[in-house]
Amino acid sequence: MNNRDVIVACDFASAEETLRFLERFGTERPFLKIGMELYYAEGPQIVRTLKDRGHGVFLDLKLHDIPNTVKKAMRVLSCLGADIVNLHAAGTRAMMEAALEGLQRPDGTRPKLIAVTQLTSTDQAAMEQELLIREPIDEVVLHYARNAKAAGLDGVVCSPLEAGKVHASCGDSFLAVTPGVRFADGEVGDQKRVTTPARAKELGSDYIVVGRPITQAEDPVDAWRRCLQDFR
Ligand code: C5P
Repeated sequence: MNNRDVIVACDFASAEETLRFLERFGTERPFLKIGMELYYAEGPQIVRTLKDRGHGVFLDLKLHDIPNTVKKAMRVLSCLGADIVNLHAAGTRAMMEAALEGLQRPDGTRPKLIAVTQLTSTDQAAMEQELLIREPIDEVVLHYARNAKAAGLDGVVCSPLEAGKVHASCGDSFLAVTPGVRFADGEVGDQKRVTTPARAKELGSDYIVVGRPITQAEDPVDAWRRCLQDFR
């Protein structure tokens, strides 16, 4: 995989705040992630706006519902122009297959579809005690990745620490999109298991999702360039 890229998590509350942040990038067009906060605040127009300005967009809405509902929702989302969309692998293979059926644009193209395995905020204890899943968490992540692969998806969201195993199990072209990235000298915040951009590259990530180390940096453009340089 040689088109590794850095995806900047636009965890902002409004389009105005997002566009003000992006102004600093001048003519540069970083790949962006739109999450629930921004999407629910601004609606589908924010996706169209950022696509029209020339950004790659990962629309991170993590769908999880009955197959028919997810299929129809994916049909709507695919027409917004996002490059990557996602869902929860926990919704089962039937839901993932239905999602893929729904992902169609009139011109025959579709966004890439990736699955969240286990959220990085879920730990072994919560999985066992609340979800009654007794297997080791890294096995669960791999099992969900294999389900996603079997359903025809393009990849998973996982920790960089799991990227190598995901590729070994699901193939090199199956994408490992990984948050939890920090500079060696940076704040960790609420992320538990973090790696640097350079280490994420060594571990086999295809895309790193980076929020605060770029959005909260004194010079976000410089931080983004550093990420790109270290990761590519
Ligand atoms: O600021 P930070 O770099 O921690 O942002 C990481 C981004 O990736 C956030 O938008 C967060 O919601 C998202 N994410 C994550 N862990 C997951 C899935 C998504 O941190 N397992």
